[in-house]
Amino acid sequence: MSVNQIVLTADRPTGHLHLGHYIGSLKSRVELQEHYKCFVMIADIQALSDNFDNPEKVRINVAEVCKDYISVGIDPEKSTLFIQSLIPELTELTIYYLNLISVTRLERNPTVKAELQQKSFHDSIPAGFLAYPVSQAADITAFKATLIPVGEDQLPLIEIANEIVRRFNRIYNSKVLIESKPILGKVQRLVGIDGKAKASKSLGNAIFMSDTPEILKQKIYNMYTDPNHIKISDPGKVEGNVVFSYLDAFFEDKEELKSLKKRYQKGGLGDSVLKGILNDTLQNILAPIREKRASVSNENVMEILISGSQKAREIAKNTLAEVKEAIGLLYK
Ligand code: TRP
Repeated sequence: MSVNQIVLTADRPTGHLHLGHYIGSLKSRVELQEHYKCFVMIADIQALSDNFDNPEKVRINVAEVCKDYISVGIDPEKSTLFIQSLIPELTELTIYYLNLISVTRLERNPTVKAELQQKSFHDSIPAGFLAYPVSQAADITAFKATLIPVGEDQLPLIEIANEIVRRFNRIYNSKVLIESKPILGKVQRLVGIDGKAKASKSLGNAIFMSDTPEILKQKIYNMYTDPNHIKISDPGKVEGNVVFSYLDAFFEDKEELKSLKKRYQKGGLGDSVLKGILNDTLQNILAPIREKRASVSNENVMEILISGSQKAREIAKNTLAEVKEAIGLLYK
């Protein structure tokens, strides 16, 4: 990959970040910041698109998400951390882009479709919710980002952004906007501790990076395993066993993991021993993250976010000026 790549990612501040975020995206951001210009945005406007009636939740979680970032090693000296609503140029770009995509195309987006099923909008889908992928296209293009580290649910959104880019450049005969590519993390769908669905804050089945050692242990001991593995000597199933899914994602010694799987399948390895191994693994990963988190205050994170937003805004301003010029909105 060339050094001129620009990386941009974002999260909605609707709760603390969890191990799915960590393994799916945060870890790779920490590596990427060593090589590329990185922008990490807290998407408070996007979070409002389905939490407009609960702005307090969004506001509080802006600082919490930023603490999660810093605690895993995203370094404000290397990555620009900023807040979406502090960059009004993003909202202005969104309006221009809205002309370039049809309502039907937005309705066809599988990510939006899946989200609509989870929510209770019934027949009154807010226009802002349907259009959030357009504002996401603004987030990406404002910084001329080329690489977007995300989970696979975000792929349809990057596709929409690229469609808007191509359409804009064609219609206005310009080269201002740049297409981007996703980078997928090594684990795409970390299952929830209940084994039923992807780990998510809204389903209450996730392990948060900020969980205390006691809560972490409790969650591991509640994990879904193999309901037919009753006696230690019974053969157990690895497939669909949440403890193994987490060991696959987080346990470094792959040879040792292979032999644990074999022993479990044969019979003779108890769930509590296995959960003990996972507990040690995750406690070791989370201990330094927790410690780092405790060392940053709300004042620290707000300072970081405000100065990052000033920097980010300069860049977005330039892109907006180029976009308006390409459209021909020049009044001198
Ligand atoms: N849609 C992303 C999420 O739900 C957040 C997001 C907003 C984003 N703008 C972005 C991700 C730009 C990547 C690029 O987590």
